[in-house]
Amino acid sequence: MLQIAVLVSGGGTNLQAIIDKINSGELDCKINRVISDNKDAYALERAKKHNIDTKVIEFNKDFNENLLSALEESGAELIVAAGFLKVLSSEIIHRYRHKIVNIHPSLIPSFCGKGFYGIKVHEKALERGIKITGATVHFVDEGTDTGPIIMQQAVSVMDDDTPQSLQKRVMEEAEQVILPDSLKLIAEGRVYIENGKAKIRRIIV
Ligand code: GRF
Repeated sequence: MLQIAVLVSGGGTNLQAIIDKINSGELDCKINRVISDNKDAYALERAKKHNIDTKVIEFNKDFNENLLSALEESGAELIVAAGFLKVLSSEIIHRYRHKIVNIHPSLIPSFCGKGFYGIKVHEKALERGIKITGATVHFVDEGTDTGPIIMQQAVSVMDDDTPQSLQKRVMEEAEQVILPDSLKLIAEGRVYIENGKAKIRRIIV
């Protein structure tokens, strides 16, 4: 069983999607700990409702050191950044090379990088007038949203979309589908890196 730690900063809808897939028996993972930089993150309430250990790491000068020790203490084999808004230190990324995944609410390389997070991503997408957007699960490296892509899911943009309606559809139809699906593939040992790209080992029936 894959033991994971989930990093959160906000509402935790992606965390909830993981919890629901585990509870339905579709995802062979155990959430050892949910860690947040935000003591008021509703994601922490979601974790507590399911008796999952939680820890808040204050964003101060010792943040990265405290976060690293909280991760190591959790025994997690995989770190899942699910709506997490802080940049991870190169020490953490080095320690957990290809063991940290992130969910981003666009089809990388569009609308990603510094300053592209949460609702801002959808505001920029609508400003540009794109017709297809979506979400991406990728491994975290030292860059911002630049690590190897594991899975993506497209979502159509409607002419009457607002940033809020688009974000809701991307979260429901893309993020909350491909994040648990990616964890399932990793838990099954089917994700590997070749020439810097993430690849999926297909099951031959
Ligand atoms: C989502 O749009 C996610 O893509 C982004 O943070 C937002 C909030 O996620 N990373 P959650 O509801 O806290 O899981």
